[in-house]
Amino acid sequence: MSALPPGAVIGMLGSGQLGRMTALAAAPLGLEVHVFAPSAGPATQVTSRFTQAAYDDEEALARFADAVDVVTYEFENVPARTAEVLAARVPVRPGPHALATCQHRAREKGFLRDLGVPTAPWWPVATVDELAAALEALGGQGVLKTAELGYDGKGQVRVATGDDPQAVWTRLVGAVPRRDLVLEGFVHFEREASVVVARGLDGAVAPYDLVENEHRDHILHRTTAPADVSAAVASEAAALATRIIVALDYVGVLGVELFLAGDALFVNELAPRPHNSGHWTQDGAVTCQFEQHARAVAGLPLGSPARRGRTVMTNLLGDDVDAVPALLAEPGAHLHLYGKAEARPGRKMGHVNRVTPG
Ligand SMILES: Nc1ncnc2c1ncn2[C@@H]1O[C@H](COP(=O)(O)OP(=O)(O)O)[C@@H](O)[C@H]1O
Ligand SMILES: [Mg+2]
Repeated sequence: MSALPPGAVIGMLGSGQLGRMTALAAAPLGLEVHVFAPSAGPATQVTSRFTQAAYDDEEALARFADAVDVVTYEFENVPARTAEVLAARVPVRPGPHALATCQHRAREKGFLRDLGVPTAPWWPVATVDELAAALEALGGQGVLKTAELGYDGKGQVRVATGDDPQAVWTRLVGAVPRRDLVLEGFVHFEREASVVVARGLDGAVAPYDLVENEHRDHILHRTTAPADVSAAVASEAAALATRIIVALDYVGVLGVELFLAGDALFVNELAPRPHNSGHWTQDGAVTCQFEQHARAVAGLPLGSPARRGRTVMTNLLGDDVDAVPALLAEPGAHLHLYGKAEARPGRKMGHVNRVTPG
């Protein structure tokens, strides 16, 4: 299929802020977004088309597929079956295979290993006995993670060789006897970084510059674009991201999270969607990541990922939104709120971009 014309409709699985910002960025391209989600959210405040249904409601999915020209998603926990049902009727971009790879840590790490991309050492674990063997093989500090459904540090615990496997297992997953987990060696990184990269339907690849990310309580606090690294590290990061997105035969925007240890880069995880560490591009790049995602999934040419100055993006969590009047009074501060009514602690309410020349 070729490029979608103005007036075409992108189907979006999920009603969160990433879907909202994609819909807002798609509008100037003449593209509409139709949200499919179990409940209303930040995205449905800015879209007129909304199917409220469960992700396993196959009748609703079929009607949705018939009402849109392409389907994408704003979070990676879309059930694989949902993507397959839709893909039988309408293009799904990124495709179901890329989604399946990125939504399961062991599949993702196996894919990266086969590609020769450096990661932390890791062991797939499905039972307490396998965990006992993996902790033994680890020989030191590690992080035990559920293979699926983790985010913002949820679904993971710090562990070390010598810990009681049964106690660790129960702490992470409770009483269930089997669960897909991944044990990772602890990476003594100096900094965390990421590359947000896009690939078009025509195969063109456009990585944004490497950025540095600071987390607080496992939640992204601040992104600085560009990262303060050597040109060699910056270009190696772009090359890694490019290899990954090509090997996934991916169409859309992909987040590649990295650990930096000296000049060494390790891939931490992949996010098959626009990424929080790419929000700086809304004000600090020629083409923002959400427009880029809309362009890619619509089969349109990618825009330039070039920076316009240097940008610091700061997340507004919980009652950080109390600072909104002050932020609006600050010259050059670009505010992006997600329209969430309730400011619970740790909840992502919005972010602010500050761009300086350079
Ligand atoms: N193997 C590791 N070594 C050191 N720190 C880690 C490791 N894995 C995760 N972390 C820390 O935990 C954070 C969250 O882990 P991540 O795998 O990215 O899960 P999430 O899906 O919650 O983002 C990372 O950004 C990093 O700070
Ligand atoms: Mg992460």
